[in-house]
Formats: sequence, C-alpha cells, structure tokens
Amino acid sequence: MKVMLFGTQPYDQQSFERIRKSYGFEILYHRSHLNAKNALLAKGADAVCVFVNDTVDAETVRQLAELGVQLIALRCAGFNNVDLHAAARHGIPVVRVPAYSPHAVAEYAVALILSLNRKIHRAYWRTRDGNFSLHGLLGFDLYGKTAGIVGTGKIARPLIHILKGFGMEVLAYDIYPDERYALAEGIEYAALEELYRRADILSLHCPLTDRTRHMIDGKAIASMKPGVMIINTGRGQLIDTSALIEGLKEKRIGAAGLDVYEEEAAYFYEDTSDRIMDDDVLARLLSFNNVILTSHQAFFTREAIDNIAQVTMQNLNDFFEQRKLPNQVCVETEKQPSA
Ligand code: NAI
Repeated sequence: MKVMLFGTQPYDQQSFERIRKSYGFEILYHRSHLNAKNALLAKGADAVCVFVNDTVDAETVRQLAELGVQLIALRCAGFNNVDLHAAARHGIPVVRVPAYSPHAVAEYAVALILSLNRKIHRAYWRTRDGNFSLHGLLGFDLYGKTAGIVGTGKIARPLIHILKGFGMEVLAYDIYPDERYALAEGIEYAALEELYRRADILSLHCPLTDRTRHMIDGKAIASMKPGVMIINTGRGQLIDTSALIEGLKEKRIGAAGLDVYEEEAAYFYEDTSDRIMDDDVLARLLSFNNVILTSHQAFFTREAIDNIAQVTMQNLNDFFEQRKLPNQVCVETEKQPSA
C-alpha cells in the first residue's frame, strides 16, 4: 500500500519512519502542501495524508478520485480544510486524529496568557540588551479574573482546569453545553454575549465552521470588556483579522496571543526570513508589542507528534484491512457534540 504524506517537515518524517516498519506501508513524503494545482503528485497513491495547511477542496478531491486515491487521512483534529461533501460524493472516506495531545494545546494557551500578561517576550529582549527597566511591563493577577472559554471540548477542559488552579472564574460557551461537566469542574455556561461582556481573557477552542467563521468581528470586539486579552489556538478564520487590528489600534483589545492566522498557509512552517513580507495584515499584526504570533505550534510536543504518527498509521491500517474506521469524519461530524 502506498501512502503520500503532504506538507511534511523533517520531524513528521522521523516520527512516521520510527513506526513504519511495523505497518509495512510504502510512504512518500512531500514538503509541498496538497492543493488543486499539485494534486497530480498523488498519482499512484492509495491514500493521501494531509495536515492543517493542505487544501483538499472539491477540485482537489475530484482529481484525487480520478487518480484512484481511496482514502484521505488527516494528521490533525480539525477538518475544515477538507470538502467533506465532495469526498462523500466521490466515495472517499476521510479519517483524522481526533486528539493527539489536548494537554499540549491547553498548556500552550496558558503559555501565551502568561507571556502576554507579564510581558515576558519583551523582558527577554530588554535584559539581553542591558535594559533592566520595568517600565511598561506591568501585568495583572490572574487570580480572581474571569476567563471566557469558547468551546468546552478536549482542549478546553485541561485549559479550564489549569485556569481554575490560578483561582480564575471560568465562563464557558458551547453549542452543546455539558452541564454535568460544568457542575463537576465548578464552571458556568453563559451566552456568548455575556462572555464577551465579562471576560478578562477570551480563549477560542471551537472548530472552524460556517457558524464560527469570523465570530470575532468588529461587532463582537465592540461588545468586549475594554483591555480584554484574546487567545486563539483554534483556527485563524475564527477571527476577522482586520477587526482585530482595529481593536488593537483603538486599545479596546489589551493583548492577543495568536497561534493561528487567517492566511497562515503562505507563511507558517517555512523560513521566509530572506524574503520581503508581502502580507500587510500579517506585517501589521507583528508590529504590535502586545501581540504574540506563533506558527501553529501549540500541538508541537514530543507526545503529540508520536500520537499523530501512531493514530494515523492505525487509521490507514484499519482502512486497508477493511475494518471499521473509528476516526472517520463525515458531513455530520461537525454537528455532533464532542465526546
Ligand atoms: P473538540 O471537538 O473536542 O471540542 C470542540 C468544542 O467546540 C465542542 O465541545 C463543540 O461542541 C464546540 N463547538 C462546536 N461548534 C461550536 C460553536 N459554534 N460555538 C461554540 N462551541 C462550539 O475539539 P478540540 O480537540 O478541543 O479542538 C478544538 C479546535 O482546536 C479544533 O477544532 C482545531 O481547530 C484546534 N486545534 C488547534 C491546534 C493547534 O496546534 N493550534 C491543535 C489541535 C486542534
């Protein structure tokens, strides 16, 4: 069986090669992201394996089907970059890795919160330059503040647990509220509007869907508590970046921690330091001293990388051995509450 991995980095290859022999698949690794322009590369593959910045739209799926590709295996949890309707039309199942390390992403969100609040990213550069002044580095106690958490699935839950450990009050919003969980964890579900109004820190942990695309827009930002910190480790398109920039300029938004960005595919995971940046929005975001923007790295721990390889190989094996696919995603998946 031949599998083609797209959008691969050396660390992906290492983690897959470590376990490949026990499965016996032939694997080809492509650095490029899969999209409609290069789908021909999948010629001869039984399955393609993609990550967050590959674009498996209707046209790509059509070409994959024509080439005889039988399975689309995501190496990630989010599946917003795959046209599930098109895949279903062509009879190509889609599988994913539903959870590779929720802790990795939750802990990273906390890292962003702490760094932004206590300005560690600025202090780091200052002291290296012999500047030991504290001017402009004033933070606030997390204890007693309110966190607004959007989506209370696998990643949000360890995050909420950590924030409760700091003594924060947690308000949550989910289209499928889990009252038993809320009672056990000592948190409260509230309407999105109330989260916006009351949260000192707002963190996004829902999937990108038609309903959540640009949920953080100018109107939402205008209704937020002045000085709010926004954390996004979900998907870039949850936020209308132009509105975020306006909110930062007007100082309505106190800080933003962004591990994802609307147009990230053109930059993230690549070293573009010898090029002139041609994305003005990205350049503006990077100019704020109260914004930390990272390259979709929240998942990036040893444990998560190993889990991704392990679960992906198991998904492929299940398919090739014609077993049930426990990690299959279909059009209905995004409408289901999180397990
Ligand atoms: P999950 O499926 O366990 O939880 C998502 C939660 O969002 C569910 O409780 C669901 O009911 C809720 N939800 C769905 N639609 C909603 C809406 N319109 N409004 C409010 N809540 C809604 O997913 P998990 O594992 O917690 O991941 C969340 C997201 O984080 C993923 O969809 C993915 O986009 C992103 N992610 C980012 C990573 C990174 O490295 N930055 C790594 C892994 C995931």
